[in-house]
Amino acid sequence: MKMIVCRDYAQMSRRAALHVVTAIANNPTAVLGFPTGDTPRGMYRELINLYNDCGLDFSGITVFNLDEYAGLAPNDPGSYRGYMLENLFRHVNIPVESTFCPDSLCEDAELECRRYEKLISESGGIDLMVLGIGVNGHIGFNEPGNDFIDCTHLVELAPETIAANSRFFPSMDMVPRRALSVGIGTIMRSRAILILASGAAKAEAVQKALQGPVTPGHPASILKMHPDVSWVLAEGAESKLIQHQPGRS
Ligand code: GLP
Repeated sequence: MKMIVCRDYAQMSRRAALHVVTAIANNPTAVLGFPTGDTPRGMYRELINLYNDCGLDFSGITVFNLDEYAGLAPNDPGSYRGYMLENLFRHVNIPVESTFCPDSLCEDAELECRRYEKLISESGGIDLMVLGIGVNGHIGFNEPGNDFIDCTHLVELAPETIAANSRFFPSMDMVPRRALSVGIGTIMRSRAILILASGAAKAEAVQKALQGPVTPGHPASILKMHPDVSWVLAEGAESKLIQHQPGRS
């Protein structure tokens, strides 16, 4: 496990972009898993700048979105498909047919989840999965619960997630209550994982994930079991980590 504490959000975004660029440079046909939310916006901006200024080539890569709200049309401004278009896809040369998101309007969620999981494995699996973290320790939309759920599945969102994500919708009533998310197994099968957290609001979730027990009650804690995880933290997300001093118990 690697952990980088950055000076500020801008530096975190550059470090994260560098990680993605390295993955693409090492493998121009890399399969990437990408998150939404406020945290990765700066990383996407950096990637767009690298495309415009340095010719970073996205034409060979494949992107799988981590999750999508159930029942929200892909052209809804609150949808994650819409988010990805606005924040990355429409600014770079990634072919639309190489970008995937769970189908939010599917009639049969179970079938859609199986289809999405199959698409990921048929693409050869994810080379680099980029994650954010929810205030309750969720990754993707894997909410705290009694079990780690392996594959893509339909999720009932936790009240704290609905509250946290209400800022992206005109009113609380309009926040979807359900989502389709890749599973913990989908994430753990990725060859490498990059996880970003910015702001003191994430400090407790980060501390529990890095220094607490591995438990489905705090989904990000499972990342300790992965052989190639990099945490990039900024703006106080590291502030609750307990410093272990040499020679003291
Ligand atoms: C949502 C997404 C997650 C994301 C989390 C944190 O719940 N499903 O993938 O990591 O929000 O978002 P933010 O970066 O806005 O705090």
